[in-house]
Amino acid sequence: MKKISIFVSGSGSNFQAIVEAVKKGELEADIALLVCDKLGAYALERAKNEEIPSFVFNAKGYDSKEAYELEILKNLQKHEVDFIVLAGYMRLIGKTLLDQFEGRIINIHPSLLPAFPGKDAIGQALRAKVKVSGVTVHFVDAGMDTGPIIAQKAIEISEQETKESLQTKIHKVEHELYPKVIQQLIKKGITTKK
Ligand code: GRF
Repeated sequence: MKKISIFVSGSGSNFQAIVEAVKKGELEADIALLVCDKLGAYALERAKNEEIPSFVFNAKGYDSKEAYELEILKNLQKHEVDFIVLAGYMRLIGKTLLDQFEGRIINIHPSLLPAFPGKDAIGQALRAKVKVSGVTVHFVDAGMDTGPIIAQKAIEISEQETKESLQTKIHKVEHELYPKVIQQLIKKGITTKK
């Protein structure tokens, strides 16, 4: 069974959706570790409830990205993690983790990349007044939401759309799409062309 680690910074609703897919047998993976950069994030409570180990760190307590990523790496190795799933992790992955895991790290982003990369993709889409946005799952490289695209789902934006309503639609799509994509990648043997 492949071991995955899910990286989060916030609520962890995608983490929960992945956990539920594993419980239902739709995703054949072992969620070995939650990695979180925010003390007190709700995702940590979710992991505790599910009896999934977590590693939480405060980036400000380290001298550099390399220093905290080395600590993450130690934890990933301890739990024999094969595959990293970013789910609302608000940091760029640095060289330390990329060198070990490039091609085995994926991310989910709330827009149709390459449109609206970076922070507040939902707000960016609304401000641009586009009629369609969506969700993208992609491999992670050193850039901001730039790696090869694996899957996308479009979502229509209505006339009266608000940030909250679009967020709800996006989450619903993410929670269905992400576990499915992870399962497909695991079946195929997870790798990207570099
Ligand atoms: C998701 O919308 C994801 O696309 C983005 O961050 C959000 C995380 O939400 N990268 P949650 O913590 O999984 O609820």
